[in-house]
Amino acid sequence: MEISLRGKKALVGGSSQGIGKAIGQQLAASGASVTLMARSGNKMKDIISELPTDQGQKHQFLEVDFTNFNSYQEIIGGYFRDNSVDILVNNTQGPASGGAMDKHVEDYQTAFDLLFKTVVFTTELALKGMIAQKYGRIINIASVSVKEPLSYLTLSNSIRAAVTTWAKTLAADVGHYGITVNSTLTGYFDTERLKGLNGAKAKSFGIPIEEVNQQMLANVPVCRFGDPKEYGYLVAFLASEQASFITGTNIPIDGGMLKSL
Ligand SMILES: NC(=O)c1ccc[n+]([C@@H]2O[C@H](COP(=O)([O-])OP(=O)(O)OC[C@H]3O[C@@H](n4cnc5c(N)ncnc54)[C@H](OP(=O)(O)O)[C@@H]3O)[C@@H](O)[C@H]2O)c1
Repeated sequence: MEISLRGKKALVGGSSQGIGKAIGQQLAASGASVTLMARSGNKMKDIISELPTDQGQKHQFLEVDFTNFNSYQEIIGGYFRDNSVDILVNNTQGPASGGAMDKHVEDYQTAFDLLFKTVVFTTELALKGMIAQKYGRIINIASVSVKEPLSYLTLSNSIRAAVTTWAKTLAADVGHYGITVNSTLTGYFDTERLKGLNGAKAKSFGIPIEEVNQQMLANVPVCRFGDPKEYGYLVAFLASEQASFITGTNIPIDGGMLKSL
């Protein structure tokens, strides 16, 4: 099976590094024209300069901040006035960590604005073109916490569950337009975010970072962190014509970490 996204246009959130960057790179390698979205314009400029263009791809980036909704609305609204997309990858940073007793209603609102409000807003704009052309792929980057809530991550546990439930509802509503909506449940991936979190944990416990890594890997049957490239392969498949019968799903990509079925 050859996955070709030639002629397709993709918009990828949180793509100046980590999982989003790897997804953008794989979609471009499979032939799609990619628009990256994040705050760091310089990083995205560098990434784009190395993306393939041998299949006529045209790449660009949008400098946006998901936490500034008014400005985001303006930038993304302007983008969709001139563009439509075939593939939308909803991704951003995770919300702040903390247990249920540490967080208050305003913290949930902040996490909701970051993870839910921008996703629904962007999807509404993308859907107009997808419905008109009767083709679309919407992929939400979520977390294993949707199936098995993680301790000390109450905001992620709560708001990501809302995103995946919304996605399931949307999948049922737009399936007849040839649009699929799926969510991916992220396990541990070797990204800058993970290095930063584990580095901070190592410092606070006074132990080497390798020990923190090993503690996490004790819960991962394949005994390693995921390579962001592997995330790109899954998303490229979900974005392809071949995945047209897969919709409304939550697909774990976690090296077997989830214990539930
Ligand atoms: N890595 C893991 O092990 C893991 C595990 C479970 C879940 N996840 C989830 O998977 C997602 C991706 O993870 P990752 O490890 O790739 O994260 P990451 O390395 O922190 O990357 C996050 C991306 O989002 C962008 N971003 C952050 N805040 C933004 C904002 N306010 N507005 C616009 N863009 C913003 C960042 O770029 P700029 O800084 O340039 O804006 C960056 O490109 C996150 O939601 C994370 O919580 C990751």
